[in-house]
Amino acid sequence: MSHCQNCHGSKGEGLAQLYPPLTDNEYFKKNRTKLSCIIRYGMKESVVIHGKTYKNQMPANPQLTELDIAYILTYITTNFGTSDSIYSHNEVKEAIKACGI
Ligand code: HEC
Repeated sequence: MSHCQNCHGSKGEGLAQLYPPLTDNEYFKKNRTKLSCIIRYGMKESVVIHGKTYKNQMPANPQLTELDIAYILTYITTNFGTSDSIYSHNEVKEAIKACGI
């Protein structure tokens, strides 16, 4: 609610051409590891979500801990997506180490 809703909406619905929805399960599955990097470091390359291309920039979230990111990813992928698995603290730690930034 406090970190993501302004752009992605309270139900992860996104906003017009500006902000992509957080509901694309295929994207989530393919990018499971990368999602931690997107939240920590933001994103600026274009991305295709539900067949639509988005080219805006997402800001970084250096204030969020790896545990916060694990909770957030579990929340969005199970509530907005249909995943039935959680992100552990350890999984996010390893993913952030592998971001290469
Ligand atoms: C200032 C607006 C803004 C905020 C705040 C924001 N995002 Fe984003 N987000 C974007 C934009 C814009 C993109 C697409 C970036 C691109 O095209 O490179 C994006 C892309 C994404 C993606 C990958 C594409 C998708 O739709 O699945 C994920 C996952 C994501 N954001 C999650 C989050 C989470 C979780 C938060 C809160 C911690 C958050 N974002 C906060 C604007 C924002």
